[in-house]
Amino acid sequence: MAVFAVAHPNIALVKYWGKRDTSLNLPAVGSVSITLDTLVTTTQLCLSQAQGEDQLVLNGASSTPAQVKKLGQLAQAFRNLSGIDKKVQVTSENNFPTAAGLASSASGYAALVKALNQAFGTELSAQELSAFARIGSGSAARSLFGGFAQMHLGERDDGKDAIATQLLAGTEWPLEVVVAIASETAKDVSSTVGMEATRTTSGFYQSFIETQNVDIEQAIEAIRARDFSSLADVSEYSCLKMHGLMLSARPGLVYWNHTTVACIHAVRSLRADGIPVFFTIDAGPQLKAVCAPGYGNQVATALKEVNGVTRVLRTGLGSGAHIVTDH
Ligand code: DP6
Repeated sequence: MAVFAVAHPNIALVKYWGKRDTSLNLPAVGSVSITLDTLVTTTQLCLSQAQGEDQLVLNGASSTPAQVKKLGQLAQAFRNLSGIDKKVQVTSENNFPTAAGLASSASGYAALVKALNQAFGTELSAQELSAFARIGSGSAARSLFGGFAQMHLGERDDGKDAIATQLLAGTEWPLEVVVAIASETAKDVSSTVGMEATRTTSGFYQSFIETQNVDIEQAIEAIRARDFSSLADVSEYSCLKMHGLMLSARPGLVYWNHTTVACIHAVRSLRADGIPVFFTIDAGPQLKAVCAPGYGNQVATALKEVNGVTRVLRTGLGSGAHIVTDH
């Protein structure tokens, strides 16, 4: 029998960039994020008697060897926990562009671990599942939770405390997000590869890590107090600090295109006109404009006019990964 899980991508406001361990995918820094609503990954998972590898079909296409390896690693963990020795067949679909800086790996692995938990009957909590999602992709741990989430750095070598927790439900501060699509094509350098390149070549890496906790504290305080201007300040700072770090790798990593830069200026000019909005950008050219409740329309209209924006996506804050029964 198939189980169905859905999860939404999240975007970091205080950014994760860098790992302290690559085999268990332990982050070098904690992070803070918001989980989105209308962008969805839907994952179907069946247990099968078949011999051979666990199988993954992603958006109708067969998956890469690296993705199959991670699926095998996660499925094996659930086989060990449950004592059920069955392979899995997974089909996963996104309703948004894959691998273009929209965190498709985050929603993908969050939905996958939720589906594995259901199919193998392991009854793990969302926090426990977040540690498994993290093995798939660091940012995926945060998509187990809706609204505002914090990824904890953790101290343990086994990664059991490198988990995510929820800070606030989205309904308690319903921010709006406008994604300005500046390119529909997949990025050249994945986050995983880019992070390691940065760690091994940038002279600024250590100071990025050392200054992270102050930013996390400011973001958490701003979220608890619903202080939009403080959240705007720390989010743009963290985003630009991460992109500065990426630029300082050798060779420098440039994830933006000219449209991304034009969108940054457009958001800052809206803010100068009194509209509560700030931007954040991940390892791709899309700009995400985060708006105070009620300002999404105005911001979407302005960003559509920016030269090079092919379309905008609108979303609010969504729920954490969950099982759907009425699929
Ligand atoms: C720029 O979580 O995709 O989006 O752990 O190697 O899979 P891996 O990396 P990933 O990196 C996300 C980087 C980021 C910032 C963030 O989401 O915090």
